[in-house]
Amino acid sequence: MYKMNTFHWHLTDDQGWRIEIKKYPKLTSVGAFRNGTLIGHYGEQPERYDTIHYGGFYTQEQIKDVVAYASTRHITIVPEIEMPGHAQAAISAYPELACTKGPFEPARTWGVFKDVFCPTEETFTFLENVLAEVSELFPGHYIHIGGDECPKDRWKESAFCQELIKKENLKDETELQTYFVNRIGRFLQTKNKKLLGWDEILEGGIPGDATIMSWRGYAGGIAAAKQQHDVVMTPTAYCYFDYYQSSAVGEPLAIGGYLPLQMVYRFDPVADALTADEAKYILGTQGNLWTEYITNWKKVEYMTMPRMSALSEVAWSPKSSRDYSAYVHRLKGHFKMLKFLGINYSSAVFDVNDQVMPNGNRGISVALSTALPEVSIHYTFDGTKPTANSPLYTDKIQIDQPVVLKAAAFDGMNPIGGLFEKGYTVNLATGKGISLSYQPDEEYSRGGAFTLVDGITGRLPWNGADWLGFNGSDCEAVIDLAEMKTFNRVAVDVLNDSASWIYLPTAINVSVSEDGNTFKPLASLSKEQIAKSSRLITIPIGKQSARFIKVQIINRHQIPDGAPGAGNNAWLFVDEIRVE
Ligand code: ACM
Repeated sequence: MYKMNTFHWHLTDDQGWRIEIKKYPKLTSVGAFRNGTLIGHYGEQPERYDTIHYGGFYTQEQIKDVVAYASTRHITIVPEIEMPGHAQAAISAYPELACTKGPFEPARTWGVFKDVFCPTEETFTFLENVLAEVSELFPGHYIHIGGDECPKDRWKESAFCQELIKKENLKDETELQTYFVNRIGRFLQTKNKKLLGWDEILEGGIPGDATIMSWRGYAGGIAAAKQQHDVVMTPTAYCYFDYYQSSAVGEPLAIGGYLPLQMVYRFDPVADALTADEAKYILGTQGNLWTEYITNWKKVEYMTMPRMSALSEVAWSPKSSRDYSAYVHRLKGHFKMLKFLGINYSSAVFDVNDQVMPNGNRGISVALSTALPEVSIHYTFDGTKPTANSPLYTDKIQIDQPVVLKAAAFDGMNPIGGLFEKGYTVNLATGKGISLSYQPDEEYSRGGAFTLVDGITGRLPWNGADWLGFNGSDCEAVIDLAEMKTFNRVAVDVLNDSASWIYLPTAINVSVSEDGNTFKPLASLSKEQIAKSSRLITIPIGKQSARFIKVQIINRHQIPDGAPGAGNNAWLFVDEIRVE
């Protein structure tokens, strides 16, 4: 219906091996089952696990059924066999394929694991035998070999790997990964298959005729297209359907992030940075649904619908003919059909949204809206759930003291969309002028610098909406209180979520000025002091008077070894600066 013509099937990972391979029966008898699973969200302390023996796999007969089913619908399946990382289930079955001897078990939690395939002849023989069976099963041209998030710790420690690096004249472990992927690519050519991999496979030099799946943003895809390699554009910020699509209360648990429908619709797989010639290398796009937090089919439907329909319009229509309000209007009718078909779609597109603005140095004002002009919005401040009889929203609401605002949209008397609930704090900085020395990343900068003084404290699990994300750079803000004010402390709200590559700052410095030019240092927090903090970090400064306050929040800059995304830029996420 949506003209999705390719199904990317992620068949192996740390937590389970899901495809029968005749030559290696332990891949499924051992690798397809784990002894328990993390309960709740990654990062929750204390970590808790259930004790359910969980698993399963597709037999080759079942795979053939799926391939045939897809084929009658003109859908090509791209199977993915992960290497060299995300291989813990495989090496649990065959520990001799790792650099250390194990024992390993299929992972019970999420993230990235240090034990990966070792690039020995034995490993290549194994992978070639696996890929030979996979090539037989899937008639499509492409085989995805993963390549993402492979920690190099074990390769660094391995005498064998270090010898191999010397012998092959490689610079380092990153080039060793290219060597690895190149060898696999040459093998796939003998099977008349083409290699597809996540954008990390660019890092040690782009292998052979590889096609790149760009997920860590546009950059990998742009670099590949400029080198005349085919690209599938699927950056997390627009294409990861495991992210939250709503900030309404009661949204089911998701991995994090924030990808509302409008953002999917705004996506353009052909990056502006590409010339018309380079743009020819963009094959298309895909939506990704990783299922760490998805335990049943109804939730699969909920996370993909209707975002999949927006991605379909992005993929199949010229940019000039895309019109979000027309699309939303059509969705209203489309939802009736989904309802008739019994599909569990999200109606988050009809949620109430807020837009917060400065209110002439007297706190903030909040405008409420929905995607449909014909609905009415009702709201409360007294903690009760709004009904069609609650006060009707007509114009911006002025806020100069802390409040909790609840709102909902009604189509006549019928509620439509989810419950909007948000607390606004008001302090000396709220709604005041603010400027930044370094800009946040384009994908996490929705409200601009004002986000840091908009009175909104970002919710957990975090979604992108209320945060500024700095990729490898610091957050340096100057707040103009408009006149001399007296205050005792500055507080900074930051995120700590290493699974999403987001880290606490390594220092915070506060200085003040009367004229906005000459700043006097007041107080600093060290890495050690910050490490003891939870989210809201307070910097006590004693009683001070000033008009301008400069807050430097120093990014960790690089993700440490062994952590998910090691070696990449660390993210710094800031959602609010308070002056009290
Ligand atoms: C990925 O999300 N690790 C490709």
